[in-house]
Amino acid sequence: MSVGIDEISFYTSSYYLDLRTLAERQGTDPNKYYDGIGQEKMAMAAHDEDIVTLAANAALPIVERIGTDAISTILFATETGIDQSKAAGVYVHRLLGLNSRCRVVELKHACYSATAAVQMACALVARNPRKQVLVIASDVARYDLDSPGEATQGCGAVALLIKANPRVLEIEPESGTHTEDVMDFWRPNYRTTALVDGKYSTKIYLTSLKRSWENFCEESSVRYDDIDYFCYHLPFGKMAQKAHSQLARVNKTGQTPEELAAQIEPTLIYNRLIGNCYTASMYIGLCSLLEQVDEDLTDKRIGLFSYGSGSVSEFFTAKVVSGYQSALNTARHAQLLQHRTELSFEEYLTLYRYPDPRDGGQHVIDPDTQGRFRLAAISDHKREYVER
Ligand code: CAA
Repeated sequence: MSVGIDEISFYTSSYYLDLRTLAERQGTDPNKYYDGIGQEKMAMAAHDEDIVTLAANAALPIVERIGTDAISTILFATETGIDQSKAAGVYVHRLLGLNSRCRVVELKHACYSATAAVQMACALVARNPRKQVLVIASDVARYDLDSPGEATQGCGAVALLIKANPRVLEIEPESGTHTEDVMDFWRPNYRTTALVDGKYSTKIYLTSLKRSWENFCEESSVRYDDIDYFCYHLPFGKMAQKAHSQLARVNKTGQTPEELAAQIEPTLIYNRLIGNCYTASMYIGLCSLLEQVDEDLTDKRIGLFSYGSGSVSEFFTAKVVSGYQSALNTARHAQLLQHRTELSFEEYLTLYRYPDPRDGGQHVIDPDTQGRFRLAAISDHKREYVER
């Protein structure tokens, strides 16, 4: 029996800021963003969107297909938590009308926790192959205005159905991990934006890749040459290029720049248009590969590197299942990305500064999102979500 991803669906806001607009306001060369960091646009959440609404919208097509009784567990990964106690996935559970016997829990470790969730989901399914586990990764990436991180914001959610004998990807059991207590990126409870030591974070990312790979080679007989495509955590596209060059160097592959690019470019297409989605980023990159590559991926092996600042990282592999194309949500994703609205710089600032009321009063939020679910009010410190 194999275990892995049976369906993958993502969702992002219908608003975006073109990084040319940001560059113009900053007096920066736009090529710094388009070429230097490899990003074109960044998604901005509407004022009635958050990790719950993004997540419910991402999971909706899966639940519509398999029904509301089929999911035994939701593992919700985020680093944009809306509550210190209640798991955000419980709101999603209600919005999607799931059976009360489905358990829900939230997981945190920076951008890595979705991969922890995937591995835990695989273990749950291996233990009882009748179970289907919904992993959701959902985040809104926010940095301070006028900080180097500002151009690497974004928002989005991805939902992954993990089951036995999956239709899309079989996840191979071996993986390599690395954990190290470092302060490269963090967000204390009292802050709404992340703190980051940008250059240091990219250095730690690359060191973690090397260490995870070394551990992977101890655990698995799979070698670099056995892997066809590489899918890296994507804080910005250029990071994947740096990572892949480093992995090739470590393995002394002697590949040309063109050969290296071919192994990662299809993973970068969606993120280039959405921006960083923290926990969801690598899995949106995976979606991009599956849906945008020109060739049939059947039996191809994909290497995945998940990195969470702070730091925990993991390298693992998965093989593409024959007939996977019919299980993808390609048309839905294309529609989502094609029907977005570009923001002016002033509109971007308005969304960025939209009030986050904390006084316990009655705060009704005007409808704005194009998604099925929205945050309608925050009253008496309670968030109220509705279907549009
Ligand atoms: N044309 C083309 N390229 C240009 C250019 C121009 N006019 N101007 C600059 N560049 C290039 C630079 O040469 C540089 O390329 P290299 O890295 O290959 O040298 C690139 O554009 C970026 O320029 P800077 O290094 O000057 O950019 P910066 O210091 O202003 O910001 C950053 C870069 C530090 C990554 C910043 O975006 C940041 O802090 N981002 C948030 C942190 C982050 O994403 N870290 C990634 C690892 S941590 C992680 O992965 C977890 C997570 O999700 C956050």
